[in-house]
Amino acid sequence: MLTVGVDIGGTKIGAGVVDPDGELLASTKHPTDPTDPAEIEAAVVSAVSELRESYDVTAVGVAAAGYVSPQRDGMVFAPNIAWRDYPLRDRLVGGIDLPIVIENDANAAGWAEFRFGAGRDVDHMVMLTVGTGLGGAVIFDGTLLRGAFGAAGEFGHMEMVPHGHFCGCGQEGCWEMYASGRALTRAARAAVVAQPDRSEGIVQAAGGPDKKVKGTHVTAAAEVGDPLATELLDELGRWLGKGISDLAAVVDPQLAVVGGGVVAAGDLLLDPARDAFRRHLTARGFRGELRIEPAEMGNEAGMIGAADLART
Ligand code: BGC
Ligand code: NA
Ligand code: ZN
Repeated sequence: MLTVGVDIGGTKIGAGVVDPDGELLASTKHPTDPTDPAEIEAAVVSAVSELRESYDVTAVGVAAAGYVSPQRDGMVFAPNIAWRDYPLRDRLVGGIDLPIVIENDANAAGWAEFRFGAGRDVDHMVMLTVGTGLGGAVIFDGTLLRGAFGAAGEFGHMEMVPHGHFCGCGQEGCWEMYASGRALTRAARAAVVAQPDRSEGIVQAAGGPDKKVKGTHVTAAAEVGDPLATELLDELGRWLGKGISDLAAVVDPQLAVVGGGVVAAGDLLLDPARDAFRRHLTARGFRGELRIEPAEMGNEAGMIGAADLART
């Protein structure tokens, strides 16, 4: 039985045909304006029909960034897209005449890692997707937690810093404001202004001082040993590790899987995270300790997880 998984990302829609072993048989990408719900819907419909020309599929799972309704039929709220009480399934079903389930993007990615990737050998796992935002998922005793209202695993909006940076969700000081691609971009731009004598590596990676510096340029500079870039990733990693120590207090998982674009930095990000995790962990030395590992499923995790979750 084949299903389609769709991932509504920051700049594009990815869709793929997935088999029950999590193999991606075919996939397609459509660029979209992530702020325009109608454009997103048109892209999802055309991506799915394109795949159905060659494959017989029975259901569609759609992964999207935001708070999903408990019935898995729509988006109740999204910090970074104009979705409020939004009946996403109803908007898609006219163009896709199949059962459709809506899933949170990080829940979908976490499920893919749990079933087929970094978490396949554990029972209790948390996932963090460090991309534009900070997404989360909890798999507890083999079950993906959705919560009473569909919003379990929204770690990105736990308050880390009282009166800290404003977040797209309307609150201040959210974890996402310190541990995400957007946070890295913000920190890098500030550092370039405040420490011009140390920012040459980052500016060079960005292609010259005219170009806007982005998080990816920090990673590129850190990979060739730039000290300022390394410090910026270190700081992001420390926020990650601190938050993971808080998650250990609630979920006590064996494994924290870190995915999303920023994990391309590898141990430049994860070593500081592991370090901070250990420093903040209560009862250290007396309790079992989770591992912090990079995701294994790459960019396709959201698609594969959504397709798998659409089966059940
Ligand atoms: C949203 C989550 C999403 C995450 C990653 C957060 O801002 O609240 O629903 O999973 O970003 O996209
Ligand atoms: Na989630
Ligand atoms: Zn927030």
